[in-house]
Amino acid sequence: MAKSTNVFMLILVLCLLQSALANMFSSLSLPDEYSLLFQFKENISINNSASFDSHAYPKVSSWNLNRSDGAGNCCLWDGVECKSGNVIGLDLSNSFLYGPISSNNSLFNLIHLRTLNLADNDFCSSQIPSKIGRVSLLANLNLSRSLFSREIPKQISQLRNLASLDLTGNGYHALKLQSSNFQNLVQNSSETLRELFLSEVNIDCQH
Ligand SMILES: *[C@@H]1O[C@H](CO)[C@@H](O)[C@H](O)[C@H]1NC(C)=O
Ligand SMILES: *[C@@H]1O[C@H](CO)[C@@H](O)[C@H](O)[C@H]1NC(C)=O
Ligand SMILES: *[C@@H]1O[C@H](CO)[C@@H](O)[C@H](O)[C@H]1NC(C)=O
Ligand SMILES: *[C@@H]1O[C@H](CO)[C@@H](O)[C@H](O)[C@H]1NC(C)=O
Ligand SMILES: *[C@@H]1O[C@H](CO)[C@@H](O)[C@H](O)[C@H]1NC(C)=O
Ligand SMILES: *[C@@H]1O[C@H](CO)[C@@H](O)[C@H](O)[C@H]1NC(C)=O
Repeated sequence: MAKSTNVFMLILVLCLLQSALANMFSSLSLPDEYSLLFQFKENISINNSASFDSHAYPKVSSWNLNRSDGAGNCCLWDGVECKSGNVIGLDLSNSFLYGPISSNNSLFNLIHLRTLNLADNDFCSSQIPSKIGRVSLLANLNLSRSLFSREIPKQISQLRNLASLDLTGNGYHALKLQSSNFQNLVQNSSETLRELFLSEVNIDCQH
């Protein structure tokens, strides 16, 4: 009798401990991602004259912070894809996004993202933010025709799950990638990498 009570107590303690630990280490939940997405919207400019594509429209304009219909709302936002209660995809191609993305933009805290498409926007010849390396599950990154320029940050090689990378159409030699970083990128993602579109990118062999 006493023995089975002890076993019961032990199981109870283990259960409590497990849920406490789970809470402590629990990753980003949908309500967090909901506000991160909204902060992204607040921190990026829209410019309706900054596109050459007739299909373009500002997807984020319809994003609306509305707590009364719950955090799951953001999964219905234009361009947002969710799975198992997390934001896993963002397709904001052709969306009149304009100007540099600040390196502290909440976009880089969306750690469950697997797909990010920012193609066909105007990031005004800014550098690809180095924080992109933090989005470590990223498998598909599409920054084609988005007017990024300068050195591609070495942190891009931290994307170990990369399957597809498209950096085309940013202008002839506007984007530069040091060959050592190119090697790291290919090595670090060798298990997953399938497609690499780097035409016009200047891969610098001097280093
Ligand atoms: C980013 O968004 C947050 C939340 O909406 C806002 O408080 C902050 O001022 C914004 N920062 C910039 C640089 O726009
Ligand atoms: C919007 O984009 C156009 C074309 O790139 C540019 O000339 C204009 O200055 C931009 N407007 C603002 C407010 O930045
Ligand atoms: C917020 O969501 C509720 C419930 O879906 C809806 O009735 C209300 O119109 C929404 N408000 C805005 C500003 O979208
Ligand atoms: C985020 O970046 C903006 C613009 O670069 C800056 O004004 C702001 O102070 C930064 N916020 C933090 C917390 O670093
Ligand atoms: C990147 O996005 C553009 C615009 O949506 C699309 O045309 C292109 O095929 C995409 N690249 C890849 C590798 O999927
Ligand atoms: C990518 O590869 C380089 C060189 O092998 C290494 O220094 C770097 O730490 C790697 N990045 C990650 C996130 O593993």
